[in-house]
Amino acid sequence: MTPDVLCTVPLPDPYFERIESVATLRVMGRLLSHDELLDALRDSPPDVLCPQLQERIDAAVLDAGAPRLRCVSLYAVGFDNVDIAAATQRRIVVGHTPDVLTDATADCAIGLMFAAARRLCEGDRQVRAGAWNGWAPTYMLGLQITGARLGLVGFGRIGQAVGRRALGLGMRVSYHDPTDPPVADDLRDRVDTVAFDRLLRESDVISLHTPLTETTRHLIGAAELRAMQPTAILVNTARGAIVDEAALVQALQDGWIGGAGLDVYEQEPRLAPGLADCPTAVLAPHLGSATVQTRSAMAARTADNALDALDGRVPRSCVNPQAWAGASPPSLLGTGA
Ligand code: DGY
Repeated sequence: MTPDVLCTVPLPDPYFERIESVATLRVMGRLLSHDELLDALRDSPPDVLCPQLQERIDAAVLDAGAPRLRCVSLYAVGFDNVDIAAATQRRIVVGHTPDVLTDATADCAIGLMFAAARRLCEGDRQVRAGAWNGWAPTYMLGLQITGARLGLVGFGRIGQAVGRRALGLGMRVSYHDPTDPPVADDLRDRVDTVAFDRLLRESDVISLHTPLTETTRHLIGAAELRAMQPTAILVNTARGAIVDEAALVQALQDGWIGGAGLDVYEQEPRLAPGLADCPTAVLAPHLGSATVQTRSAMAARTADNALDALDGRVPRSCVNPQAWAGASPPSLLGTGA
């Protein structure tokens, strides 16, 4: 039987070419609702499902694909939309796309930091509206990045890439990460690890680089925002729900913090009421990984993870390799991928 891969939204090259060389590829052409996903999987379960980060892959969806479904191959590094415990229990491996989007996402975090700290979007709006009356000594003053302290919440791949860029800009860098990740040699002696409350109090810019889990949901709420400096800038390129967005709106409206640079939101693409009217918020549309090169590298990794699974091998970037511990399923590729 020819292996079967179901993809909801079409992915960039070289995804199609790689999958179609060995499997039947079905592309739905759009995001599916939860019910539509259930129907699609029940009608014709694939060996591999390639969904998008907005599609919730819970136990019901996994069961709808059972027993044929062996792999969920995500086009994202974040996997908070998948019930990993349920997948592992059902011996379904979950692939994702780490590493290839680290630089693009770190660049985006730095861009948002500059835009919010130096009020670039506020200024842009004033210029376009004809509200700019010319240079003035105290017009549009912002936060100086050189010498400022950056506090990174989460110090994995992307947090470290942001830290490296910040050091290059002359910033001082602290981080908080309860998982105690290995720190790259070039950073080890140049960054401080600090307690969370100290990071909140002392940082001029706070940038979030932690996965969304039940522990990190609303990690930044009213109390944390109140603990920050009134000039502090909050940057979020990770997941929207790490921040209590309603509390953030209040913090921006009432001047608890100086500004925010956001790429992600709690209920994408909707914004919390009032957020769009906060002049000190820079709002990007979840484009952290959106470069031509990165999206193509993500497509290649999504395909390679799927092909590994079709070949009976744990995907090269797998969230739950333990799902196949002891016994991998047989290869579905005649000659191996
Ligand atoms: C991810 O990969 O998790 C991003 O949010 C999209 O690139």
